[in-house]
Amino acid sequence: MWFSLGIIFSLGILIPGKFSLKLQYDRDQVLHIVPETFQQVQHLQLLCSTLKLDLWKPLLPEDIKTGEELHIRVPAPLLQQVKGSLDQHMMSYRVLIPDVQKLVDQSLPRERSHHRQVSGGYIYTEYHPMEEIYEWMTQIQNNNSEMVTQHILGMTFENRPMYYLKISQPSNKPKKIIWMDCGIHAREWISPAFCQWFVKEILQNYKSDPKISRFLQNLDLYVLPVLNVDGYLYSWKKDRLWRKNRSPFENGTCYGIDLNRNFNASWGTIGASFNCSSDVFCGHRPEEAPESSAVAQFIRSKKSDILCYLTIHSYGQLILIPYGFTTKPPNEELMQVAEEAAAALAGKYGTNYKVGVPSSVLYSNSGSSRDWAHMIGIPFSFTFELRDTGTHGFLLPTDQIQPTCEETMLAVTTIIDYVDKKYFPGGAVMLTSSSLGLTLCLSIVFTWMVS
Ligand code: ARG
Ligand code: ZN
Repeated sequence: MWFSLGIIFSLGILIPGKFSLKLQYDRDQVLHIVPETFQQVQHLQLLCSTLKLDLWKPLLPEDIKTGEELHIRVPAPLLQQVKGSLDQHMMSYRVLIPDVQKLVDQSLPRERSHHRQVSGGYIYTEYHPMEEIYEWMTQIQNNNSEMVTQHILGMTFENRPMYYLKISQPSNKPKKIIWMDCGIHAREWISPAFCQWFVKEILQNYKSDPKISRFLQNLDLYVLPVLNVDGYLYSWKKDRLWRKNRSPFENGTCYGIDLNRNFNASWGTIGASFNCSSDVFCGHRPEEAPESSAVAQFIRSKKSDILCYLTIHSYGQLILIPYGFTTKPPNEELMQVAEEAAAALAGKYGTNYKVGVPSSVLYSNSGSSRDWAHMIGIPFSFTFELRDTGTHGFLLPTDQIQPTCEETMLAVTTIIDYVDKKYFPGGAVMLTSSSLGLTLCLSIVFTWMVS
């Protein structure tokens, strides 16, 4: 097996691009296990590290705990051995995904002509490769030139541009900013799909939806649809389950920094690894990766205007609030806003979200952008972990894009609405002479009535 993998990799290096040598996951399974004793935990940790199994939840073997569920991908050739070993240790398991490759194939778009795509309008209910998202951004700004502008945030490690869209209603009054980024983790495809959905919805509805039209008078929306561009491309072309960016280390023997462990927030202390082959490699220093550095520089430069930082991930159905590296109780207000958002979300299709600090609803982590943003003074900061809770995990089927985006839209607009009302309590009512006149009349009538 190692021999054949070696061939795949060396061919991949010799003939880049042209022949897409994709990593296959035929008959790999994702298993669900809940260890009940400490012995079982230890055994699972050993099994995961010796067989190099791919942990989906938690991401690190040391975060395996009794009574907490575990999702692991087991390569087909190791299934018998792993299942046998689980039986031996009296651990029951459930198969979450019976064939990983089947789900991988299902999340790819059907054959469709590029022309149909462009002329017939963008299809928001499919996942899109990076090239199409780049084109989409250009189209969106061209078709909405009075509201949308496209800007460059920085360049990726592989020298690709990172673009964000600024949605701003023309006005000469100073406004505050809501920031949202998607696609920090490459394989979480539902995340960029949501950013695109969000932009579409705002532009379609800002005139008719009173909530959106109200907050757009005070707030500009900055949306970065794909933060980890190199990783996202890699997840389409080479490895659907890639998570990190694509910086090489140790003479190209391992790749990628986990961009959500690379921010200067108690960096490298918990839920992260200093091993560059780990999925949660935090880099050698905060902001080592050009991608995290670009985001941090921009946020810093606008920090006094940014009221809310939102970052979209999958999976788990969670709204996470700062901080990921302590067990201290959360900020009351953030907790309350997140709960309101989760309630709005559930109102659509009944999808259940948990709300809280990472240590209470997921696992601790350091170096996240959410924590960093809050630490530098951005008052509201949330991470969304979108659908599902493990049935499909990172491979959320296409038919769930629409419902997921619809319900998430309600949560996100609930948060923006709250922030808007808090910072602009008088609303966006212009004190025009006519509204002043009306107020005057009403107050006269009112005084007359009570007297
Ligand atoms: N998006 C998460 C992260 O930032 C990973 C998913 C959390 N859920 C899970 N099943 N591991 O690390
Ligand atoms: Zn993520």
